[in-house]
Amino acid sequence: MRELCIICYCFSLFLILNCYSTTAQPPFDYPTANLSTSWANTESLRHSVNFTDGSRVRAILLRGSFGPKFACGFFCNGTCTSYLFAVFIVQTNSGGGIVQPASGFPQVVWSANRDHPVSYGATLNLTETGELALQDVDGSIVWTTNTARKSVAGLNLTDDGNLVLFDANSSVVWQSFDYPTDCLVQGQRLYLEQSLIPSASSTNWTAQTGLFSLQVTDKGLFAYVGSNPPQAYYSRPVFGNDTNTGRRYVRFLNGSLSLFILSVEPSEPDDVIPIPRASSTQYMKLMPDGHLKVFEWKESWLVVADLFNNSLGECNYPMACGRNGICSGNQQCSCPISSSPRRDYFRAVNDLQPDMGCNEITLLTCNTQDQTFIALDNIMYFNTITDTERVDIETCKKACANNCLCKAALFEYGSNSSTGVCYLPSELFTMMNVDPNVVHRNSSAFIKVQNVRSPPLASKSQANLGVILPSTIGSVLFLLGVIGLLTYIIHKRRRHAQSKEESIGEVLGMPNRFSYDELKTATNNFYKKLGEGGFGAVFEGTLEDGSKIAVKCLEGLGQVNKSFLAEVQSIGGIHHVNLVRLRGYCAWKSQRFLVYEFMSNGSLDRWIYHGDREQVLEWECRKKIILDVAKGLAYLHEDCRQKIIHLDIKPQNILLDGDFNAKVSDFGLSKLIDRNQSEVMTTMRGTPGYLAPEWLNSVITEKVDVYSFGIVLLEMLCGRKNFDKSQPEESWHLLGLLQKCCEQEMLLDMVDKYSEDMQTHSSEVVEMIKVASWCLQYDYTKRPSMSTVVKVLEGVMKVESRLDYNFTDPRMQNTALVEHEKDMTPLMASVLSGPR
Ligand SMILES: *[C@@H]1O[C@H](CO)[C@@H](O)[C@H](O)[C@H]1NC(C)=O
Ligand SMILES: *[C@@H]1O[C@H](CO)[C@@H](O)[C@H](O)[C@H]1NC(C)=O
Ligand SMILES: *[C@@H]1O[C@H](CO)[C@@H](O)[C@H](O)[C@H]1NC(C)=O
Ligand SMILES: *[C@@H]1O[C@H](CO)[C@@H](O)[C@H](O)[C@H]1NC(C)=O
Ligand SMILES: *[C@@H]1O[C@H](CO)[C@@H](O)[C@H](O)[C@H]1NC(C)=O
Ligand SMILES: *[C@@H]1O[C@H](CO)[C@@H](O)[C@H](O)[C@H]1NC(C)=O
Ligand SMILES: *[C@@H]1O[C@H](CO)[C@@H](O)[C@H](O)[C@H]1NC(C)=O
Ligand SMILES: *[C@@H]1O[C@H](CO)[C@@H](O)[C@H](O)[C@H]1NC(C)=O
Ligand SMILES: *[C@@H]1O[C@H](CO)[C@@H](O)[C@H](O)[C@H]1NC(C)=O
Ligand SMILES: *[C@@H]1O[C@H](CO)[C@@H](O)[C@H](O)[C@H]1NC(C)=O
Ligand SMILES: *[C@@H]1O[C@H](CO)[C@@H](O)[C@H](O)[C@H]1NC(C)=O
Ligand SMILES: *[C@@H]1O[C@H](CO)[C@@H](O)[C@H](O)[C@H]1NC(C)=O
Repeated sequence: MRELCIICYCFSLFLILNCYSTTAQPPFDYPTANLSTSWANTESLRHSVNFTDGSRVRAILLRGSFGPKFACGFFCNGTCTSYLFAVFIVQTNSGGGIVQPASGFPQVVWSANRDHPVSYGATLNLTETGELALQDVDGSIVWTTNTARKSVAGLNLTDDGNLVLFDANSSVVWQSFDYPTDCLVQGQRLYLEQSLIPSASSTNWTAQTGLFSLQVTDKGLFAYVGSNPPQAYYSRPVFGNDTNTGRRYVRFLNGSLSLFILSVEPSEPDDVIPIPRASSTQYMKLMPDGHLKVFEWKESWLVVADLFNNSLGECNYPMACGRNGICSGNQQCSCPISSSPRRDYFRAVNDLQPDMGCNEITLLTCNTQDQTFIALDNIMYFNTITDTERVDIETCKKACANNCLCKAALFEYGSNSSTGVCYLPSELFTMMNVDPNVVHRNSSAFIKVQNVRSPPLASKSQANLGVILPSTIGSVLFLLGVIGLLTYIIHKRRRHAQSKEESIGEVLGMPNRFSYDELKTATNNFYKKLGEGGFGAVFEGTLEDGSKIAVKCLEGLGQVNKSFLAEVQSIGGIHHVNLVRLRGYCAWKSQRFLVYEFMSNGSLDRWIYHGDREQVLEWECRKKIILDVAKGLAYLHEDCRQKIIHLDIKPQNILLDGDFNAKVSDFGLSKLIDRNQSEVMTTMRGTPGYLAPEWLNSVITEKVDVYSFGIVLLEMLCGRKNFDKSQPEESWHLLGLLQKCCEQEMLLDMVDKYSEDMQTHSSEVVEMIKVASWCLQYDYTKRPSMSTVVKVLEGVMKVESRLDYNFTDPRMQNTALVEHEKDMTPLMASVLSGPR
């Protein structure tokens, strides 16, 4: 018996030791990999560990040993039917093996494919051409670094957890730090345009798009909730009005999250959010509930800081009590209740968990007839921005009543004033109930609710109709008369309400809703066609107040009403002197119309090509137009809350007013692209001749607009079309000509020959051709941003001197030719450019 126990004991000891020895192999870390290597997500990856919480890692690279270290490889949790390719922190022993300590599980800090997990057997390839690609078992490429043409020499997992593709000079070609998910590790920076987006939940890795995000903007560090438009719940505005050069970013350092304007470190940060100093590995994560937490390894993973807590109370978190919920001290959650008349319009999503929020009992429709407001006093809202200031409470309510997307009118009186600030959110998150004795602010919320319609008259009478039909034809006729009269009254009232909506919408800078009849009258039954775009015709019109408009008919747009309205609201909210203003819209049956301000000199293409043009524009005028367009585009790319890539810049989309001020039109019709998704775009859009070469390998950034701008610029300077068969054959292609002239330093030959004024200013024009050449760089990363172009045009910056004059990739030549041939048939152009 005793022997047996000893044997048992030895055996279990052996098992334990054995367990450790299998994971402790090989004895060194393995942090780099060479090209032409592939790894399959199977047991063939030696460094597999099953953790007791159900998670499992299969490491590919591991850096360092003894303690918490970074590794990358496949990760799964729970049923393990799907896997991430991720960078995670694991515990290692002195032999460089991954171990499972008493507590502490792998912490994923970055992943390549959180929206597209792969299966057992998927492969990760570091191809011969230097691309890192993740291929699922069904053969589909789930994710790739798109670096095939960038002379990559190998893969490195750095000490601080950055996965890097480097070239022969050990310079970074691609790095995971440039594509953050929901975490920052120590030393990592979050730049302008980048954002952290949390996972859907602690067990669902999918990016929770449209709810929380952390972003650096040109004003500072902001956390947003919602997407339509986003509402800031945390703000750290530090950069002020400084529109100066220099990249803005935050960096996670030992002891702080620091905000910088200049990228030359070490320098004093412009602002610092303190964090407890690290005694071991730390990382920061934007949680599914909107908190930004810092974790540190202290024998297990502990939360050492909850960064927004310094400035936000628990009720300031937008989801503290869920959507439509009311949060009062101690995180007591309740639903809005109407006291007079006493009636329930909201119901808790889950009675047992009041913090999950409240649902409308009757969903809001766009029919303003049956809507009222629940008025709640001493309610404040977390958002830091308001829509209008100095309005009275009635105007605020009316604006909400007449805006279909508005969910509530949130109003706060100014001190000693009968007016105040008004905010009209299109999504309503948690509201705070404040104690007026503590918080001396006079604020109210008016929540829009839908009354249930009483059953319509007609259906009731129809039920009886069959039985008493013979004897009651008279009364049926009478009833019909009544219904007719009612419809007429309702119709009239609605039209009345609509005309009111317009004036209020105009005040708040939102696009108006027009009725079809109004547009019909304004355009004299769509009489005068201004042009035909890729997605429908444009008509001239005059509104009752005498202002002229251009009405664009978006035909066959098969979009649902809601997304159309949402898009129109966001486009309508964009105002800039160099962007054509959207004045309103109309949705009638399946037809959609956009109403723009009228631009009396039409589109730029009428003014630039020799032979076609109405008048030869002087150099000063052309210069002004170029600067205007650059400013408009810079605004779309860099200053809008949501970055907008135009995707179809061409002379036809640049409009001129009576004084030849240029404005960019048709922006935002292409899909609105989130700042963090700057490189996703799958189908080709735009117009041949103006398309950037990267459309062929689908790396689409705002630089495609810079390229198209370059083409337009060149056309304006040379006074001819990009592809012109009336020229001698070797000059058909403007880009080919540019390349030749650059190489032979004969740029003067390109300047518009039919304008004396241009010839007089030829040296300035040649400088401008260099700007165009910069914008037309084959490698999109070498092209300037539009704000840089603006600076060059304003003379505060110089054109990059090391330009590549090889504008076309030899492999592209054929395709480019084909494209230009197609350009000759107008049909193709319209197919590609719309409808969008
Ligand atoms: C990569 O290649 C170099 C040179 O051929 C070799 O020395 C090194 O061991 C290789 N590294 C790996 C991880 O295979
Ligand atoms: C992990 O669990 C899987 C499934 O139970 C098993 O096939 C595999 O051998 C385990 N791996 C290790 C290293 O224990
Ligand atoms: C794995 O999932 C469980 C819940 O199913 C969770 O508690 C645990 O934190 C997860 N582990 C990791 C490493 O994400
Ligand atoms: C990845 O590698 C596997 C195995 O070497 C191979 O079958 C597959 O075709 C490769 N995929 C790509 C995209 O290179
Ligand atoms: C890989 O990363 C390590 C640690 O960060 C660094 O020291 C090394 O220079 C890198 N190697 C290459 C080839 O970039
Ligand atoms: C490496 O650096 C040298 C000198 O700076 C440069 O000429 C070469 O093009 C670089 N190689 C790569 C692959 O970038
Ligand atoms: C994970 O979250 C996404 C986004 O919220 C959702 O679409 C998906 O259904 C969720 N997956 C699971 C397995 O719950
Ligand atoms: C920003 O500009 C406005 C008006 O131009 C000015 O009143 C304000 O003081 C400026 N703020 C900062 C921080 O410079
Ligand atoms: C952070 O700073 C503290 C104090 O300066 C130091 O003791 C600690 O080692 C640092 N931690 C890391 C991870 O660099
Ligand atoms: C931060 O605030 C939340 C409530 O909003 C609270 O639950 C949490 O404990 C706080 N975190 C820290 C580290 O104080
Ligand atoms: C508001 O009124 C009080 C008392 O009448 C006065 O002391 C205060 O200065 C006023 N505040 C403002 C902002 O006008
Ligand atoms: C809020 O301000 C309005 C207008 O100044 C006033 O009529 C109302 O009594 C105030 N309410 C509270 C609670 O102070």
